Amino acid sequence: MNSRKEYFESFAEEWDKYFTAEDLEYLSFLLDSFNIKSGNKVADLGCGTGVLFDYLRRKVGSDGMVVGIDFSKRMTHRAKRNFPFRNCVVIDAEAEHLPLRDKSFDMVISFAAFAHFTDKQKVITEAGRILKTGGNLHILHLASSKELEKHHHQVGGPVAMDHLPSFEQMMLMFTEGQFANVKITDHPGLYLASAIRQ
Ligand SMILES: C[S@@+](CC[C@H](N)C(=O)[O-])C[C@H]1O[C@@H](n2cnc3c(N)ncnc32)[C@H](O)[C@@H]1O
Repeated sequence: MNSRKEYFESFAEEWDKYFTAEDLEYLSFLLDSFNIKSGNKVADLGCGTGVLFDYLRRKVGSDGMVVGIDFSKRMTHRAKRNFPFRNCVVIDAEAEHLPLRDKSFDMVISFAAFAHFTDKQKVITEAGRILKTGGNLHILHLASSKELEKHHHQVGGPVAMDHLPSFEQMMLMFTEGQFANVKITDHPGLYLASAIRQ
């Protein structure tokens, strides 16, 4: 087990407590702009305990599906326990190696997790593989890239060096993953990189 994984395992029990009602309201506001439709199949990479699940499962409805992926078994255990619904599935896996079929998803979201992924190009390529043509990838953090870098540095330990790639690096990674229409917002309180699978 690598140390970053152990790090997140150690936070699983208390993770849910970190989100305030204000955070959840802001998240809902941001997710509204993703235009998730009833019947959609949405993957949540680095889903943790499932903070997005309540919003997502209501949007996709009974004909859709939310699939959360996380490499921390304690996080996924809680996510499964928190959301025992037919339209919510949680898988213990690395975002770099998704045990999911090609072209089977309408949307891939990664919230508060992308900065922690070891091989970011692989994650984007995997997201591209599982997305249908025209499907959307959204990489979201509630902090700018600079704020996040500073935060992880202060937190220290295995995440001390975790950061978001530069604008240029992200553009290259999206191109390599066969994405286009890339939009990157990076300002205090928000990092959002969105792109469409070609
Ligand atoms: C900061 S937490 C965010 C969790 C959740 N998205 C949330 O906002 O509550 C980052 C999550 O990413 C997961 N993670 C980190 N690297 C991963 C990887 N390579 N593959 C799968 N999950 C990973 C961690 O286990 C952790 O649950």
